[in-house]
Amino acid sequence: MRTRINDMLGIKYPILGFTPSPEVAAAISRAGGFGVLGAIRYTKIEELAEALDWMDANVDGKPYGLDIVMPSKVIDEGDVTALEGMVPERHKRFVDELMVRFGVPELAEGTAGPNAITGWVHDFARAQVEIALKHPIKLLVNALGSPPADVMAEAHAKGVLVAALSGHAKHAASHVQAGVDIIIAVGHEAGGHTGEVTTMVLVPEIVAAAEGRPVLAAGGIGTGAQIAASMALGAEGVWMGSVWLTTEEYRLEPPGANGYSVVAEKLLAATSSDTVRSKVISGKPARMLRTEWTKAWEAEGSPGPLPMPLQGILVAEAEARIRGSQHKALLGTPVGQIVGQMNAVRPVEEVIRKLAEDFEVACDRVAALRG
Ligand SMILES: Cc1cc2nc3c(=O)[nH]c(=O)nc-3n(C[C@H](O)[C@H](O)[C@H](O)COP(=O)(O)O)c2cc1C
Repeated sequence: MRTRINDMLGIKYPILGFTPSPEVAAAISRAGGFGVLGAIRYTKIEELAEALDWMDANVDGKPYGLDIVMPSKVIDEGDVTALEGMVPERHKRFVDELMVRFGVPELAEGTAGPNAITGWVHDFARAQVEIALKHPIKLLVNALGSPPADVMAEAHAKGVLVAALSGHAKHAASHVQAGVDIIIAVGHEAGGHTGEVTTMVLVPEIVAAAEGRPVLAAGGIGTGAQIAASMALGAEGVWMGSVWLTTEEYRLEPPGANGYSVVAEKLLAATSSDTVRSKVISGKPARMLRTEWTKAWEAEGSPGPLPMPLQGILVAEAEARIRGSQHKALLGTPVGQIVGQMNAVRPVEEVIRKLAEDFEVACDRVAALRG
């Protein structure tokens, strides 16, 4: 499994794994892939710095990256209050009523409600990048379009490559204009924010738009055969997010009585039909487990989600309450359709070894078809 990506990033397999968990990210890198830590859950700069220090101590010298959620236009601290004032009362009432109807406990006294758009605030976003570039990261990834020009320039000056997610060929073209080094084609099946076009159709479109820059395929990839298919479509590697949620190293949610968290149990039982593409989390379509929370937003009487970033501001506290109480009916997670094949908890090293083995089998199977 060798492409330009192996040499650009200094890795054994062109398998990049997005994860909010430092433990998982480090394990992916140690196993020969490339772990990319999601920065979004760190609402304090010191916590991100700590996580990156921990990564440095635990990757055994292997390379890793950081994913930020930075829109090309960041806002000032004062704008946050103005945005909060724009959330309609009808929507607030709808969320409050749902919390009462499902008996979701309040946050513990003294626990501050999370701020859903911290990463959008100019000073915070820049501070995240500063901290990241003080660590030996090899790749900076932006979830929301090309990073701002000054961030791109700073990363490149430090020898850090830049990648950006893209759900449409026109986004890929603008990433090329902006000087992004690696383009990630995220198909409709993916967990998290996702567009209308499926991976099978999107990858060749983005390869064509990338003007020779390497493309990673994302969305619905969970087996070696799916990696082989991605490569056949012109991708030079893969970007996977969902499969790590059922690895042994993923310990973000507290385990329940049987050792599995509420979310892990739901993931292990879910089929590929148990996800929904919904605007509930952020105001932009994202794929996640279907739960009573997502259903309530689709039901009659729902005011419908607000546009980004207002929806994120509206639901931040409710989602923290749902997570905090591990509410069985309402709790979900972003996850893609590949969840139907996530049926066992395995260590990251085993997941990657199996991907590499099955990739070889798939390549042999296809090679044997040549006339
Ligand atoms: C739990 C979870 C959280 C995610 N959060 C982010 C994020 O913060 N930033 C980002 O760039 N992508 C995020 N994604 C999307 C992934 O980067 C990736 O595009 C997607 O998982 C690929 O498709 P797959 O889920 O089928 O592997 C998230 C995905 C999951 C499953």
